[in-house]
Amino acid sequence: MSERAVLVCASANPDKVAEIATILGDAVSLLPRPDDVPDVEEDAPTLVGNARLKAAAICDATGKPAVADDTGLEVDALGGDPGVRSARYAGEGVTYADNVAKLLAELERAGATTPAERTARFRTVALVKWPGGRETVAEGVVEGVIAPAPAGAAGFGYDPVFVPDGGDGRTFAEMSADEKHAISHRGRAFRALRAAIEA
Ligand code: IMP
Repeated sequence: MSERAVLVCASANPDKVAEIATILGDAVSLLPRPDDVPDVEEDAPTLVGNARLKAAAICDATGKPAVADDTGLEVDALGGDPGVRSARYAGEGVTYADNVAKLLAELERAGATTPAERTARFRTVALVKWPGGRETVAEGVVEGVIAPAPAGAAGFGYDPVFVPDGGDGRTFAEMSADEKHAISHRGRAFRALRAAIEA
């Protein structure tokens, strides 16, 4: 691709937008989500389905290409839960702490106590919807284990209980943002998306 792509970001979260802009770098000029486009119901059964719903809503409303992502935490001892339901695991309108507490309780109930029994991964799907219907899709995964108790105050979501493989035993919430995104699901998904856009 010779020209710099102009993409509208479907996320309204300024931290996420800044992070995505940094990763996409020179390949892309990222425009903020317009205020007047209503949120879509993220009710697809898959991550790619939800990313598609979010990107398509912004692409349809603006007539410009739009980028969206969707992330899930997959815990092997729980059959892949919470997965696509990660944001609402403990119910509608819950806090991150509620979701973490439910995750730890479910793992205890399942008798998963050793690291080998608590394997998990974050998976992110990043998707560009281009006017006319074409899509560019990329995925990023980071493997790890669920810690016995929360540790660290950085990041968000399940970061306090996720210990990535290949590290020094710290959770994502004990790392700087740069350290986290050098290996994170979202970092990997958006670097792969950038490569696909540039190809
Ligand atoms: P979203 O698709 O990015 O909105 O993510 C859905 C849910 O997954 C969030 O509400 C968080 O609970 C969780 N999540 C997503 N990304 C991360 C992350 O980088 N660290 C920890 N939890 C995350």
